[in-house]
Amino acid sequence: MNIAMIGAGYVGLVSGACLADFGHRVTCFDVDEQKIASLRRAEIPIFEPGLDRVVAENVTAGRLFFTHHLAEAVADADVVFIAVGTPSRRGDGFADLTFVYAAARMIAQSLSGFTVVATKSTVPIGTGDEVDRILREENPGADVAVASNPEFLREGSAIEDFKRPDRIVIGAEDDRTRELLAEVYRPLYLNDAPLVFTTRRTAELIKYAANAFLAMKITFINEIADLCERTGANVQEVARGIGLDGRIGPKFLNAGPGFGGSCFPKDTLAFAKIGQDFEAPLRLVETTIAVNDQRKRAMARKVVAACGGDVRGKRIAVLGLTFKPNTDDMRESPSIVIVQALLDAGAEVVGYDPAGIEAARSVLPPIDYADTAYKAAEEADCLVIVTEWNEFRSLDLEQLSRLMRGPVFVDLRNIYRRHEVERFGFSYFSVGRPN
Ligand code: NAD
Ligand code: UGA
Repeated sequence: MNIAMIGAGYVGLVSGACLADFGHRVTCFDVDEQKIASLRRAEIPIFEPGLDRVVAENVTAGRLFFTHHLAEAVADADVVFIAVGTPSRRGDGFADLTFVYAAARMIAQSLSGFTVVATKSTVPIGTGDEVDRILREENPGADVAVASNPEFLREGSAIEDFKRPDRIVIGAEDDRTRELLAEVYRPLYLNDAPLVFTTRRTAELIKYAANAFLAMKITFINEIADLCERTGANVQEVARGIGLDGRIGPKFLNAGPGFGGSCFPKDTLAFAKIGQDFEAPLRLVETTIAVNDQRKRAMARKVVAACGGDVRGKRIAVLGLTFKPNTDDMRESPSIVIVQALLDAGAEVVGYDPAGIEAARSVLPPIDYADTAYKAAEEADCLVIVTEWNEFRSLDLEQLSRLMRGPVFVDLRNIYRRHEVERFGFSYFSVGRPN
């Protein structure tokens, strides 16, 4: 099949490369000309494990193309995916649909033959109706159908998630569209990935409900972690004890500094607004947003308390700046709030991240950066693990204790145990655990 991917960001690039890997002919278009130029030079603009290999192999095989010319991508396409950003709108937090509607307008003129336009972007319920209206207004003669095909991949494991999804959701209004989209994913459902066929509006709602539910699950366990700290219980054992119940499930029950990222924060906010607009308030989602916001600041207070209640003049090494491991994405990372709060409290902060330093520089307030965890630790009074990159799981604690000026070790991801850290003279603080 011929596929056009509009938007070559995290989702567009991963989806385009994987669909090419399934044997389709995929052309990616992006309004960011620099991004397309670097992709044409085989430079991958994001850090995503395995993506460079999938892109290179499919470019070489003549199945994956990058173009500055939209018409080139759309004219021969059987399916055009819209994978542009839907960030929070300034002011009210609703999803900003400017990019989606602009993409629809751009696509309209180049459509030829029967084409399915499918939104992969996360969009509010009813957006597909508006995309449909725009396409027909701009090109009244077009033989086009609009579908919703939300994407559930995670950054850091995007290739694996795309190729082995828990399910594929296809929201379409007619059989011809359903059949064409099912054909796109044929290699996956032959491997038993369930296809969920539904209406366009239901598919749009499924995506927000999934993200909101996961965000609530994380926020629930974070509140339980606080209760564990007050009562001497262990949140990891609570998570295991409840997660083994198949109705609850073990995933997304890791307590930490609060969820961040390009999606949970903006999608929970947009979903809450959608609920209000439709007069069906989503109070659990609204509370989740508020609790998560407070949690990030509470984590900074936890660091200050660990340092004896005062960080003025103290040097704090922050390990892990991106919102999760295996990405260079700093969007809504808890580190942003934590670093700012530590600076406000008078600390001197030095940051280190295996892949996110460049992105961090443009997002964080001015701080020092180190190019290894050990350099960050030099002369630090306190070390804080904010993101659980694998390389932080087996730090040489003996070396750290020699390099650091002070003995405080704050593990906001529970990747160590108290006894193994305290052996080296540290005072150890984690989340929701006595040990
Ligand atoms: P991104 O910001 O990484 O990429 C969006 C791309 O779209 C950018 O390269 C931008 O230049 C391009 N763009 C904007 N307007 C365009 C236009 N008119 N034509 C062509 N290109 C245009 O965003 P992302 O993280 O890939 O997210 C895209 C969508 O997918 C969002 O709705 C997001 O909520 C959703 N989503 C993201 C993830 C994720 O892990 N990042 C996962 C699932 C769903
Ligand atoms: C999330 C969803 O998991 C994807 O299914 C969805 O497609 C995507 O959002 C999206 O719509 O963009 P992502 O944001 O890439 O994916 O990463 P997650 O692994 O979900 O982590 C999100 C945040 O939650 C991170 O800050 C992470 O540290 C935090 N988290 C996650 C926890 O604190 N505890 C957990 O147990 C799991």
